[in-house]
Amino acid sequence: MTGERTVQTDVTLDRWEQEALDHVWVHASHWVELAERRGLRVFVEGKGCILIDSHGDRYLDGLSGLWVVNVGHGRTEIAEAMAKQAARLAYVSAGAFTTTPAVELAEVLARITPGDLSRVFFCSGGSEAVESAVKIVKQAQALRGFPRRYKIIARRGSYHGATFGAMSVAGLRREQEPHFGPFMYGVTHIPSPNRYRNDFGLEGEEGDLMCARFLEQEIEFQGPETVAAFIGEPVSTSNGNHVPSPRYWQMVREICDRHGVLLIMDEVINGFGRTGRMFAAEHFGVVPDIMTVAKGLSSGYAPIAAAIVRPGVFEPFQPEGRRLGHLLTFGGQAVACAAALKNVEIMQREGLPQRAAEMGGYLLEGLRTLMDHPTVGDVRGIGLMCGIELVKDKGTKERWERDGEFLAYLGEKIMERRLIVRAWQVLHVAPPLVVTKEEIDRIASILDECLTLAERKFGLSG
Ligand SMILES: Cc1ncc(COP(=O)(O)O)c(C=O)c1O
Repeated sequence: MTGERTVQTDVTLDRWEQEALDHVWVHASHWVELAERRGLRVFVEGKGCILIDSHGDRYLDGLSGLWVVNVGHGRTEIAEAMAKQAARLAYVSAGAFTTTPAVELAEVLARITPGDLSRVFFCSGGSEAVESAVKIVKQAQALRGFPRRYKIIARRGSYHGATFGAMSVAGLRREQEPHFGPFMYGVTHIPSPNRYRNDFGLEGEEGDLMCARFLEQEIEFQGPETVAAFIGEPVSTSNGNHVPSPRYWQMVREICDRHGVLLIMDEVINGFGRTGRMFAAEHFGVVPDIMTVAKGLSSGYAPIAAAIVRPGVFEPFQPEGRRLGHLLTFGGQAVACAAALKNVEIMQREGLPQRAAEMGGYLLEGLRTLMDHPTVGDVRGIGLMCGIELVKDKGTKERWERDGEFLAYLGEKIMERRLIVRAWQVLHVAPPLVVTKEEIDRIASILDECLTLAERKFGLSG
């Protein structure tokens, strides 16, 4: 076909890889990297933290897919629950009806989420959950008698998804503006807690609290009567995995209440045990008005997500003649609900949030031993969600170029050792919550070896 590139590679591709290169549009990936630098893998099987590719090679999944597979790969119990539900009933109109697994799952979520979060709007992925939350807050404010409250305040550097509204509240303007601007009208972004490079030059908790005070300033600057909601991830991975002081979130809650602004906590990555509690909001003693969840809700066994709201958010939609102007065909799909129900049951039965807290402590300890490396500026995390900040120079904290040679080389060496992590400017490690100490030791030792190799190659071995 005209315009298609031929693959220049010395790697022998099997049938799956060749066909994948020909026909699969792998999300957000560089085609050349996949095609010519052996970046592509086609996986066929998984068990616990192990993935097996089409060559039969075994990989250690140090990122749970994309912070998704919390209960681990290969859970036949979930597969059986899904098969049973699919055979019984897979789908009814999301616009008019619901099903028994959706009812059961909504009841479970109302019970296990913090405070009085109790009304569940189901959808299929994190972006849809955020998109739904944004529409819910806008319409809820209008129905409450504040039609001018349409603005959303979000945070620089946060990630909330790839669909248009979610992308607009995500704080990644520099990357996205060239292709997708202008964004949804009425979104502004404020600084986010960061104890390594605080925007105000402040240290420790004081830096976090200044970010909360900034929210109040921004609300006052915009005019409280125009602001619908504030959105943030309790602990933001895209912002570098900084764990804020509980006071930060408590102040944010107080500020939102003071100004009639609804608080959306995006727990798409944080939720379902990842941080060592079932939900990260629990660490901070705060109940949001809306919580968005996805990923760990089904551990990736089915595409399912939700925006879960408090009674006060749902009430304006209750009177006769009113309804949320938002329908997603696959919201609450019965097989996906059955998968999520079994997934949550396993999490509770096996005490996986608690396990994430324990193993997370062990992982953080292991990764902190890498601080001796000249390129490791900081190591931080909560539960099984850890980040290693990679820098050119610890004194200046200068970052590596995101698509530069150092990170590419480091990533390649790690992949050669069949460990899957995300080697970006912050290297993310987030294995399934069933990870063992031996697997954690292996992660730390592979990273140690690969950092040494990369530092040697780039003349940084001290
Ligand atoms: C915090 C957060 N919100 C929303 C999303 C979007 O989720 P999805 O990719 O399932 O649409 C992500 C995805 O990584 C995320 O990390």
